[in-house]
Amino acid sequence: MTISIGCDHGGYELKSKVIKHLQDKGYTVIDNGCDSTASCDYPIYAKKVTDDITASKADLGILICGTGIGMSMAANKTAGIRAALCHDVFSAKATREHNNANILCMGARVVGPGLALMIIDTFLETPFSEDERHIRRIEMYSKL
Ligand code: RB5
Repeated sequence: MTISIGCDHGGYELKSKVIKHLQDKGYTVIDNGCDSTASCDYPIYAKKVTDDITASKADLGILICGTGIGMSMAANKTAGIRAALCHDVFSAKATREHNNANILCMGARVVGPGLALMIIDTFLETPFSEDERHIRRIEMYSKL
């Protein structure tokens, strides 16, 4: 599975840990930056990851900023993107099963690295339920 990842300065240190974790687990990782803790603009990196998803260059995406909020707002502007802000394992599992989320957003100033990696593992390992009611609901808001 190929994972596209991006961050701003607030997420840079956590992103480095996440990339190593994912590569150790055998995932192919596309690192879209940023590449340091120097201040930068998160929408640039949100767009790089959403482009990878909509172009089918990656199966799922991860976006990390200070809170995860700006990244989730920016990513959800793109048609076909269902970006979920998750800071707990239950939400990460539910958003894959119910919402077929294709990007996980996280705030590096909100969760520590141990919990972040558990949330990421849960998100990547949980399949969409394929339930008719969830497909119907996703189609309903995708047309808004
Ligand atoms: C950067 O200071 C911060 O605003 C950003 O990382 C993110 O939290 C925005 O939502």
